[in-house]
Amino acid sequence: MNLTVPLFTPRFTPADKNQLLKVLHSGWLTHGPFNEKFETDFARYLDVNHAVSVNSCASALLVSLIAHKIKGEVIIPSFTFVATANAVVNAGATPVFVDVSYDTCNINPQAINASITKRTEAIIPVHFGGQSAPMKPIMALAQKHKLVVIEDSAETIGGLYQGKKTGSFGTGCFSFYPTKNLTTGEGGMVTTNSTRLASIIRTYAAHGITTTAFIRQQTKQPWLRTATVAGYNFRMSGLQAGLGISQLKRLDTMNRTRRRLASWYTRRLKNIEEIDVPVESPNCYHVYQMYTIKVKKVDRTKFLAKLRQRGIDATVHFDPPVHKQLFYKKFCDHRTDLSVTNRLSRNIVPLPLFPAMTQQQQVYVVNNIKAAIKVSRSS
Ligand SMILES: Cc1ncc(COP(=O)(O)O)c(C=O)c1O
Repeated sequence: MNLTVPLFTPRFTPADKNQLLKVLHSGWLTHGPFNEKFETDFARYLDVNHAVSVNSCASALLVSLIAHKIKGEVIIPSFTFVATANAVVNAGATPVFVDVSYDTCNINPQAINASITKRTEAIIPVHFGGQSAPMKPIMALAQKHKLVVIEDSAETIGGLYQGKKTGSFGTGCFSFYPTKNLTTGEGGMVTTNSTRLASIIRTYAAHGITTTAFIRQQTKQPWLRTATVAGYNFRMSGLQAGLGISQLKRLDTMNRTRRRLASWYTRRLKNIEEIDVPVESPNCYHVYQMYTIKVKKVDRTKFLAKLRQRGIDATVHFDPPVHKQLFYKKFCDHRTDLSVTNRLSRNIVPLPLFPAMTQQQQVYVVNNIKAAIKVSRSS
């Protein structure tokens, strides 16, 4: 029997579709009441004072760096999507790549400590694949050295560290791209407890103008706009916000399903010698944006080819790591130990996982993993 198992597939409910119709009928296609509601709901969900909707996590990261006036060195993991580093460069700052921990693929606090210099201004921990980075030591380092913390929580929406949501420790940046725990197609959010910062970010994300069209509409002279900075158009559309409102209501349920599917995979895969299954840190509530295994003593390319030939969309996330990307080689300090990152980029394999995944699909993936190992063992 042959099945097709995508890496992910978003599922939309009648409530999502009704919400989209509500937005269309309202006429508020952008920057209106739906954005306000999504922001309020998201801030409440995270237990922070402010959430600002934007069009992507890349934009969220960039406006956060700009709002914090970061121009010096920014410590980031190299084991991340290139968007994290792009935001640093686009803000006029310098990325400093550090290593991650093998078990969690999350930034290693000791590696951060070793890379802090007089020029360091910020740290961007990336919460990898649904699990929080170790925020206690990271926040302690930031406090000690007076560094800004901008969390790249693109891959972790609803994850917890010591009971606190990722994105609520520093300035939080989220992505609502289709592979994420909550999707609006494209989209992002910035979260912060600072009213001043939220206002700056809101302004930068909307052409440098201090008020939204929705707010101006409620004044006597709605045509009066005040531009205080040279901003961007990073606004989220009302349709995306509508979808976000509706998806947020069932985010926890979707995350619980992800966790159930992940634990099923782990039970079946943990005794296979050639596989390291994901490790859940004791302090964390993992929301499995990805279920990543690490393969050992197998030729990964052959292993993946076999799975893909069987209709299973297993993939690699991330190879090459950012410090080996053509543009970023020049930022790589060769004295920095990035051996774990290099090793992970050679052996990591995210498997299909999404809330609508069926038991039949999961059994099919596991059976084919066993078969793929047999044909791809290396000496
Ligand atoms: C860690 C990380 N940061 C940033 C991004 C960029 O998100 P977006 O596509 O919303 O800009 C992604 C998206 O895949 C990501 O995985």
